[in-house]
Amino acid sequence: MSKKTAKSPAKKSPAKKAKPAARKSAKAAKPKKPARKGPTLAESADKFALYQRSVQSPSVDIEFFDAEFQKHRGRVPLAVREDFCGTALFSAEWCKSDPRRTALGVDLDGPTLDWGRTHTLASAPPGAAERVTLAQTDVRDTRLAPVDLIVAMNFSYCIFKTRDELRGYFAAARQNLVDDGVFALEVYGGTEAVVELSDERELRGGLTYVWEQEKFNPIDHHTLCHITWKFRDGSQLYRAFTYDWRLWTLPELGELLREAGFSTVKYYFERVEADEDDDEYLTGTGEFVEHTEIENQEAWLGYVVALK
Ligand SMILES: C[S@@+](CC[C@H](N)C(=O)[O-])C[C@H]1O[C@@H](n2cnc3c(N)ncnc32)[C@H](O)[C@@H]1O
Repeated sequence: MSKKTAKSPAKKSPAKKAKPAARKSAKAAKPKKPARKGPTLAESADKFALYQRSVQSPSVDIEFFDAEFQKHRGRVPLAVREDFCGTALFSAEWCKSDPRRTALGVDLDGPTLDWGRTHTLASAPPGAAERVTLAQTDVRDTRLAPVDLIVAMNFSYCIFKTRDELRGYFAAARQNLVDDGVFALEVYGGTEAVVELSDERELRGGLTYVWEQEKFNPIDHHTLCHITWKFRDGSQLYRAFTYDWRLWTLPELGELLREAGFSTVKYYFERVEADEDDDEYLTGTGEFVEHTEIENQEAWLGYVVALK
């Protein structure tokens, strides 16, 4: 089989593949204490800023949602809800993309939302920031205002580990959509999503992003993953974020969305092309295309789009 490895440096991704040279062991090594005075780069780093820089690319997502919504609904989506919004980067970018747009960011965690207010929204143009509302509540809260589009980025719905919990979330989201509303989930998978591994990706400034899959249980698909950053002075933000998830399969997601009442479920995957540095590898293009069948791959990224 001549399948090459997909990697998409422009974007997020648990299962994103690094070239073998960048691949380390199955576990990220614990940091050694640097022997020098003053704060290390890790000690002076901000994990939320690093997270936004390493795994979020909202403009790619927005371009896709905009085009797909218009294709299926014949109008421009204006009101979005960003579930599990964290620091609300998607919400801010959404409102920057069109002066008519509004965003409701929903997250349970107060300090994370506060960071979003004092950093993401404070650095957005005021005209856009004032159209973002942040709600500290559960994404299953059905008292929230109806919107055109609900998005759940970076796989956060994987915190729901039973079919009942996930179907309950999907049904609540459906209830908070307008009649022609659309719901979109970001998905990842592939043969390497179900193994223990640690992938490294070099970022600018001597910074390395490490995605670590510490555990995977094939019986229940529970997976324990971490993000670590390594700095050029040898310091690390070791396991700055940890994810205790169930890795849902695509058919399970489709079945549960339909059981929750969505009429149509579509699957989109990133188009890849030869890596410009090394044609042994493929690079994500940021362009997502609908498929009903794909080749089984080591790593893929995509969206599941459900129409109300
Ligand atoms: C990985 S962050 C997601 C950040 C951002 N959405 C992104 O695209 O990268 C996951 C967030 O989900 C939030 N969260 C977890 N369970 C939640 C729930 N039931 N309702 C709302 N937020 C929840 C956490 O507080 C955390 O901020």
